[in-house]
Amino acid sequence: MSDAAVRSMNLSVFLTACGNYHHLGWRHPKAWVDGSTNINRWVEMANIAERAKLDMLFIADQIAIVGSETLSTTENSSKVNRFEPLTLLSALSAHTKNIGLAGTCATSYSEPYNVARMFASLDHLSGGRAGWNCVTGGQKEEAQNFSLERHAAHEIRYERANEFADVVIGLWNSFEEDALVYDKDSGRFFDSSKIHALNHRGKYFSVRGPLNVSRSPQSRPIVIQAGASEATIEMASRIADVVFTAQADFDSACDFYSRIKSATITRGRCADSIRVMPGLSVFVATTREEAQAKFDALHDMIDVKDAIEGLERLLGGIDLSGFDQNDPMPALEGNDLRKSGPGAFAQIGRKNGYTLGQVAVRAKAARHHCLVIGTVNEIADHMEHWFLNGAADGFNLLPAIVPGTLTDFCDLVVPELQSRGLFRSEYDGITLRENMRLQSPYE
Ligand SMILES: Cc1cc2nc3c(=O)[nH]c(=O)nc-3n(C[C@H](O)[C@H](O)[C@H](O)COP(=O)(O)O)c2cc1C
Repeated sequence: MSDAAVRSMNLSVFLTACGNYHHLGWRHPKAWVDGSTNINRWVEMANIAERAKLDMLFIADQIAIVGSETLSTTENSSKVNRFEPLTLLSALSAHTKNIGLAGTCATSYSEPYNVARMFASLDHLSGGRAGWNCVTGGQKEEAQNFSLERHAAHEIRYERANEFADVVIGLWNSFEEDALVYDKDSGRFFDSSKIHALNHRGKYFSVRGPLNVSRSPQSRPIVIQAGASEATIEMASRIADVVFTAQADFDSACDFYSRIKSATITRGRCADSIRVMPGLSVFVATTREEAQAKFDALHDMIDVKDAIEGLERLLGGIDLSGFDQNDPMPALEGNDLRKSGPGAFAQIGRKNGYTLGQVAVRAKAARHHCLVIGTVNEIADHMEHWFLNGAADGFNLLPAIVPGTLTDFCDLVVPELQSRGLFRSEYDGITLRENMRLQSPYE
């Protein structure tokens, strides 16, 4: 696809070195198990994604072992071991050339000056490929690693996150493009009139600035928000370039898409300045039976009791012990840790007529993201339908078995999307913003 005016699907991949988006992905006979802190595995995955011309790879984060109070009951979780994302992305920047490098840094457990500095540095290191997933964090175990008893209330977290993001974005604007003059004759390294203090004084932060990193190639690294609640919509429509979200079906995805686009327009931004990228877990093969067999091999290992306990954690600690696994999935309300998730899981139950046990087992495979099992054409049809009919601007892929489901997608589905004219065949820019065809926020 060479015509810059043609709308191209955005594709990101949520990388985990043990395929841990499916809780038991690491147990597949061909799955890597030693990837979490093995840089060679990450480089191989990044290269696979870059060969397929994906826009970006994304590395999520939790600053704790979740379930650490009861480690003995979570021994099947590969998430016990992980790299710190910015360190990893910096290493990957040296092994890749075009693919965007996005990672999470939660606003509840950091300071905006640190975040502005780290992502501006990554943007320089990578030649303009950095993306910040600006989330508030969601686990009590994280709070307990930062001298707090519990995670702050949802409203407070988002209030702090909004101010946090404004400071980060303000700091990225510290240097004008030509602030560094390097004039050996006059002895002037920089022009002080072109470096600006921020002088921010708000409810949560006092930050004088300026940032001690010069304007980076993208000026403003890509900002991502992840979630689906009203607070996410409010914040994303104000400051984000990309929204990652979990939407299990077409109708919910369309509803979310239209709400976030209208909120963005209300803020005076154009609808295309924000890209909605729901998660997508794909099991693909040349026949549907083969694809289903790939899925079943993992699915059959899930223990329903373990899945229900996992669902309780995903729901922010909702107690499901009063229900039997064969009961219809109960109606659930959002809570302070998880606003949108409980309603979404309840809807999966309602729409599919699933019992609590069935929803819990499905959650182990893809949480409340969309899950598609089928042939190349069926997967491409699904993606095309969402892309062309107001449900998505692209997708955040969630490989369940690493590297198998990542290579399956890149080798089988990407060429089909390209031949349909839905996805470009070459990187056509230098920076992540250019490759995603996102407008500069300063234009
Ligand atoms: C694709 C995706 C990636 C996410 N990555 C992270 C992450 O790395 N760290 C984190 O603490 N939360 C992460 N979240 C969770 C969200 O930040 C948010 O807490 C959750 O989706 C609930 O959002 P809500 O407030 O909109 O209900 C992610 C969510 C999605 C959909």
